[in-house]
Amino acid sequence: MENQNIDTSQDLAQVQLDLIKKRKSPVAFSEKEVAKDQLEQLFEAVRWAASCFNEQPWRFVVATKDQGDHYQKVLNGLNPHNQTWAQNAPVLMLTFAKKTFDKNGRPNMHSWHDLGLAMGNMSAQSTAMGLYLHQMAGIVRDNIQKDFDIPEDYEIVSGIALGYKLDIEDVPEDLKDRETKERTRKSLNEFVFNEAWGESSF
Ligand SMILES: Cc1cc2nc3c(=O)[nH]c(=O)nc-3n(C[C@H](O)[C@H](O)[C@H](O)COP(=O)(O)O)c2cc1C
Repeated sequence: MENQNIDTSQDLAQVQLDLIKKRKSPVAFSEKEVAKDQLEQLFEAVRWAASCFNEQPWRFVVATKDQGDHYQKVLNGLNPHNQTWAQNAPVLMLTFAKKTFDKNGRPNMHSWHDLGLAMGNMSAQSTAMGLYLHQMAGIVRDNIQKDFDIPEDYEIVSGIALGYKLDIEDVPEDLKDRETKERTRKSLNEFVFNEAWGESSF
């Protein structure tokens, strides 16, 4: 899937779809580090996401494993179930959404939506870079608030584990089932409707 093979927009569309399908949320991460310039590239992808009024309401706290105490604090923000596997990821993050618009101080009802778009960009970019991320709603907001003193105008949204995934033969036995579980999806006619709700042309 190298650049020189991409010579028509049809090829590009297929490459894009293949990358989207390749993305998955692993629980078995390799120890291999993620370099700072790779993180920068992921956040560059985030930076160009669309957002309501271009407010870019997303914020991230990032910790790499070599950051010892700081990494432990981010890990402490995840619930115990997620900590069991996420503690092997070389990068952990927390995400936040600004509650109000900069432009007029009114509530931003789309801030989580826009953070989701930013995460979509980060997910797509990470797959293209050979990286994988696993997002987590299972966080402990009180710990995050206490450890990071989050300003009042920001909601604590999620955690993220990021890194390279382990080759399947290296995945520990206790994680093997989860890591190899078949990934399933709704079919198009379950969520794309046409003239009447529930009626699909797909
Ligand atoms: C907002 C969000 C919250 C999630 N929370 C958790 C979580 O707390 N723990 C977990 O193991 N996986 C969590 N996941 C991962 C989902 O379970 C996973 O994306 C879904 O099963 C589809 O699998 P796939 O990402 O491999 O395609 C979360 C995903 C998202 C997008």
